[in-house]
Amino acid sequence: MPVSALTENLKNNNGNVDQKDGVTSPSQDIPISGGQSLTREVSRSMHARESFSFGTSPDQQRHRPTFSRPSHESGSPHLTRTMTGAAPKKLQPFREQDVKILLLENVNKTGQDVLREQGYQVEALKSSLPEDQLIERIKDVHVLGIRSKTKLNSRVLAAAKNLIVIGCFCIGTNQVDLKYAADHGICVFNSPFSNSRSVAELVIAEIITLARQLGDRSNEMHAGTWNKVSSKCWEVRGKTLGIVGYGHIGSQLSVMTEAMGMKVIYYDVVNLMSLGTAHQVSSLDELLKGADFITLHVPEIPETKNMISTAQFEVMKTGSYLINASRGSVVDIPALIEASRNGKIAGAALDVYPSEPAGNGDYFNNELNSWCEDLRRLKNIILTPHIGGSTEEAQSAIGIEVAESLVRYVNEGVTVGAVNMPEVTLRSLTMDQEDHARVIFIHQNVPGVLGRVNKVLSDHNVDKQMSDSRGDMAYMMADISNVRQAEIETLYKDLEGLKERIITRILY
Ligand SMILES: NC(=O)c1ccc[n+]([C@@H]2O[C@H](COP(=O)([O-])OP(=O)(O)OC[C@H]3O[C@@H](n4cnc5c(N)ncnc54)[C@H](O)[C@@H]3O)[C@@H](O)[C@H]2O)c1
Repeated sequence: MPVSALTENLKNNNGNVDQKDGVTSPSQDIPISGGQSLTREVSRSMHARESFSFGTSPDQQRHRPTFSRPSHESGSPHLTRTMTGAAPKKLQPFREQDVKILLLENVNKTGQDVLREQGYQVEALKSSLPEDQLIERIKDVHVLGIRSKTKLNSRVLAAAKNLIVIGCFCIGTNQVDLKYAADHGICVFNSPFSNSRSVAELVIAEIITLARQLGDRSNEMHAGTWNKVSSKCWEVRGKTLGIVGYGHIGSQLSVMTEAMGMKVIYYDVVNLMSLGTAHQVSSLDELLKGADFITLHVPEIPETKNMISTAQFEVMKTGSYLINASRGSVVDIPALIEASRNGKIAGAALDVYPSEPAGNGDYFNNELNSWCEDLRRLKNIILTPHIGGSTEEAQSAIGIEVAESLVRYVNEGVTVGAVNMPEVTLRSLTMDQEDHARVIFIHQNVPGVLGRVNKVLSDHNVDKQMSDSRGDMAYMMADISNVRQAEIETLYKDLEGLKERIITRILY
């Protein structure tokens, strides 16, 4: 089992301390007896027994707030503020140049910038890597950034001896063996909601496009046909939009479509406060009966599979429209084809499909889904290749959100937003808390561990402590005071000695 993320190798003090007032200084080595000092580096190797491990952020540069984006972009106000208004003490576990980050698949520049601003060593590649090359490349990285094409199975992860955190710069995390990662103390982050606005805007475009049959008119013109018609073309003002799933995307749409003069009703399994004058209805059927346009924004779960099928099309108003930019399994497509052919619906827009090709090309045919060619022949059906969230803005927001999660995790141990670990956070330490340290102990979730951990911490004042578990593993974070630098080695070794330990990190 991989162990600690951070080690401090004992080595001769070569004059690495250079604390100048208010100016940049390199990492401060920790003096130990015998004229030696500790140089920070990263290791998860259990065999590095002659070294001991912890993290630190003693230098002035790292204490300086580095995030200056507008708050709506940064989304991480706690990186720059503390509850008391005191300057935050930026904890970093390693010398900045020691944190090795590998980014694959052309991670957005916004994300790369956030990581580089921290002084980490960032290597960014444009593509993913074949498994054997990946194994070779990630052997010594501490942070790995990927998108959807890089598969991180247990074989690959086992090779990454120093890895403490993975950032998926995308929505899904299916490409990562999350359980293996959690069991080995590797935290995984993603960005599930950075593209909500992009999806909502696509749906707005589709509502008007369907109401005015714009897709068909445009196709006709491209084929050289002038077909000026007004029959069955509508304004959207005064029409009713039915939103199924009033979450991040559904609620954005609610506000935007009301501004266009639409009446909004929504159905959600949870009772949610309406925005504007929208009205929550008590059943899906009630929504289907009352809406002129129905748009689906539910997750892919067993309850939503074929949520709209023959029975639901029968309930819908004749001449209504259906939009699905959620997940492909939510609509029974053969039933939709039938409802379109028999005139029950006047049009539909689909962005997602039960099977989708892995890459771009002429794959949207019956080999992919048996009904693709029938679907392509229907009138007033907009078909898009899962582009709801594909905008420059969404990619940029994903870059920032995931990179900031990685920074918070590396520097402060905060797991909020993690997909495979319990969410644990503590307020940032401040600059006036000089003799404080943050202890992070990722461990097996078995009885008695916390008692043993607190025994190790008992010589210090535990100011704050938070612990939570998820399945077989648990995450404990404690801020302790009255810690002299020389005591950190003992603390670290004692925690490492507990048999339930997965990873120990100490930041100060
Ligand atoms: N097309 C794209 O490119 C794209 C991009 C982003 C998200 N998505 C998809 O859009 C969907 C919605 O995303 P979101 O960010 O708004 O999700 P969200 O989690 O914020 O909201 C989902 C809402 O659906 C509700 N819900 C769950 N089960 C339901 C049910 N059986 N009936 C009614 N309501 C139910 C939930 O209570 C929640 O309010 C997801 O499936 C997501 O994968 C697609």
